[in-house]
Amino acid sequence: MGIDMDCQAVTVAPGKAGSVEIRRVPVERPQRGQVLARTIAVGICGTDAEIVSGAYGVAPPGSERLVLGHESLLAVEEVGPDAGDLQAEQLVVGIVRRPCPERCLPCSQGRWDLCTSGHYRERGIVGLDGFLREYLVEDAAFLVAVPRALEPVAVLLEPLSIVTKAVATGLRVRDAAAAPSGRALVTGAGPIGLLAALLLRSRDIEVWVVDRQPADSVKAHVVAAMGGHYVDTRHTSLTVAARDVRFDLAVEATGFTPLIFEAVALLAHDGALVLTGVTSGHRIIDVDANVLNRGMVLENQAVVGSVNAARIHYEAAVDSLREWSQRWPGLAERLITSRYPLDRFSEALSKKPDDIKVVVDVGSAPAVTMEPTSNKVGLLTK
Ligand code: BGC
Repeated sequence: MGIDMDCQAVTVAPGKAGSVEIRRVPVERPQRGQVLARTIAVGICGTDAEIVSGAYGVAPPGSERLVLGHESLLAVEEVGPDAGDLQAEQLVVGIVRRPCPERCLPCSQGRWDLCTSGHYRERGIVGLDGFLREYLVEDAAFLVAVPRALEPVAVLLEPLSIVTKAVATGLRVRDAAAAPSGRALVTGAGPIGLLAALLLRSRDIEVWVVDRQPADSVKAHVVAAMGGHYVDTRHTSLTVAARDVRFDLAVEATGFTPLIFEAVALLAHDGALVLTGVTSGHRIIDVDANVLNRGMVLENQAVVGSVNAARIHYEAAVDSLREWSQRWPGLAERLITSRYPLDRFSEALSKKPDDIKVVVDVGSAPAVTMEPTSNKVGLLTK
C-alpha cells in the first residue's frame, strides 16, 4: 500500500482567525467495521469559510486543531474486518453528522439530522476531524457508495443531501394541503440554491432563481439550461420582478435574512418557505409583525428551517445525480467552477463572484476500467 503513517491535512484552530494551515496528521489502521480511504476531492462551502474566520467550529476533544472539510469524495484503499461489502477503489462519500452519545430518539433511528440533545458531532465542523486530508480511517457505516460514472460530480453529494432534505420538508407542507407545487422560488444561485433548483426542475416544477449576478453569468446560464427563470436582483427587486406571481414553495439559500420576509410575502396559499442558510452574528431589521402574522395564518403558510441530512437523503441524492446526468448531461458538472490542488487550498477559501462550487483536488480518482452505461450504473454501487 505504501501509505506513510501520517499525511497532509488542512487544519484550523477553531475560534482563531488566520490559523488555517497544512499540517501532518497521523493515519490510523482500519479496525473492525472501518475502511482506510483516500481523499479524492473536497468541496468548500460557506461553513468552511466561517470556521476559518474563527466564527464557527469545534475541535475534537483534547485537540486544539480541527481538520477541515465535510463535502467529500473518497476512494476505499483498504477494507478492515466486517466492514460490509465495500471493496478497494469503490467511490464513497462520507456522512457528515454522527449520532449523539446519549442516542436521543432521532439519533437512535438514524435521523441524526434531527438530533434533539445537540450533542451530535459533524466531520470537519463540530468535534470530529474532517476530510480535507490525504487519507483517513472511517466507519463503513458512515460511508455512502457512489457509482464510478458519477465521479465528476460526486463531490456535490453532501450539499445535495442537505437540499434533498430541505426540499422534501417544504413539499410535505404542500402534500399536507393536498396542493400541487406548480411554482417555486429559490433565493441564491450558489451550490445549495442551484441544486435545489435542479431538484425542483427534475419534478417539473416551474422555478425562479434570484441572485445578484448578471444575466450572462455562469449562474444565469445554468438556470436557463435547466429551464428555470433567472432574475438579477441588482436591478429589479424580487418583489417587483414577481409582482404578479406567487410561489408554492420557496428555498432561501443566501443567508441574507431580510430576504426571508420578502419571500414570505410572495408565498401562495398553503405555501412553504424553507430556510437553509446558517448565519452568524446579528442583523436587526424592522418587520411589520402583524401583517406577517395575518398573512401567514389566513393562508396556512409555513416557514421551516432545515439543517444537515440523514443517510436516506444521501442515497436519494445519488439517484438524483444519476437522473440528472441523463436529463441534463454535463449540467451538474458546471456547478464546479474552480478546482485547486491541496497546496493551494487557501485560494479555494476565497470564492470569486461568479464561482458556484470550489473544490480542492486531493488525490487521484480510481482508473476507469469500464464505462458503465446508464442502466448498468447501479451494478457499481455495491
Ligand atoms: C453542512 C451540514 C452541517 C451544517 C451545520 C453545513 O455546511 O453541510 O452538514 O450540518 O453546516 O454545521
